[in-house]
Amino acid sequence: MSATGPAGVTVRVPAKVNVQLAVGAARADGFHDLANVFLAVSLYDRVTATPAEELRVTCAGPDADQVPLDRTNLAARAAELLGARHGIEPRVHLHIDKAIPVAGGMAGGSADGAAALLACDALWGTGASREELLDICAELGSDVPFSLVGGAALGTGRGELLTPLETGGTFHWVFATAHGGLSTPAVFREFDRLAEGRDLPVPAASQDLLDALAKGDTQGLAAALVNDLQPAALSLRPELADTLAAGRAAGAPAALVSGSGPTTAFLVPDAESAARVAAALAAAPTVRTTRTATSPARGATVVT
Ligand code: C5P
Repeated sequence: MSATGPAGVTVRVPAKVNVQLAVGAARADGFHDLANVFLAVSLYDRVTATPAEELRVTCAGPDADQVPLDRTNLAARAAELLGARHGIEPRVHLHIDKAIPVAGGMAGGSADGAAALLACDALWGTGASREELLDICAELGSDVPFSLVGGAALGTGRGELLTPLETGGTFHWVFATAHGGLSTPAVFREFDRLAEGRDLPVPAASQDLLDALAKGDTQGLAAALVNDLQPAALSLRPELADTLAAGRAAGAPAALVSGSGPTTAFLVPDAESAARVAAALAAAPTVRTTRTATSPARGATVVT
């Protein structure tokens, strides 16, 4: 610690999977109303903020070459937004240690935005209230508030209005990354194209799914998993159907596209099944890498 505050602040932040993603019709502002049941998973990025001459972003990790290091990075935007609200020049170096798949439907970019916000708040001694931080998160993107909060939550509106949910146990997951990313706006556009001429119901959370989450009931959750964006992701990337089939053939009771994809998620009963399904998926030609993880996981947390 120096007289002006800590030399650096590191924040750990989880990835997410959507166990229910119910999508309504496109709104006038181009976004879609959602009933989005988020579950944080134990794959973490770490963002370290240190004082610097000017705003700078660096990134390390297996997918680091795919991460934009300019002002479009949500970590940089978070520092700018917080600084602007508090009259602080965002002279900060943000280093991202990246383990969450990039452009994968697991909110990796959103996670870095939430983590950078919390890290800059601590570094600058801004003392922003939780409400203000959540407000900035919502400005950064629809999934960013959940990255801050973690655990399990229902997101309504465009996904940014959160109601915390109870979870009654640990859920085990396998994730398979694909070759190449998928653009979230492109997947929503494909959703609109596929929905043309149909009246879409107002999105609502499934009670069976909420009950399964609250009880820690893996079988019940497996039966209730649903992602309305999955047909759109499969339409853009048909080979993802082979990945889903490979995971099911390896014994996963449930398989779905994570968010807008192309990462696929497999819910399994325990850590042993996770290791077995991950090994089988690693051999599938449509799979780039696999990860195992558990839910729920804590939201963005200062670790130094
Ligand atoms: O909020 P965020 O910047 O993460 O959204 C990225 C894009 O995903 C939006 O520009 C929009 O095309 C699409 N989207 C949507 N409806 C939502 C959330 C995102 O159409 N509820």
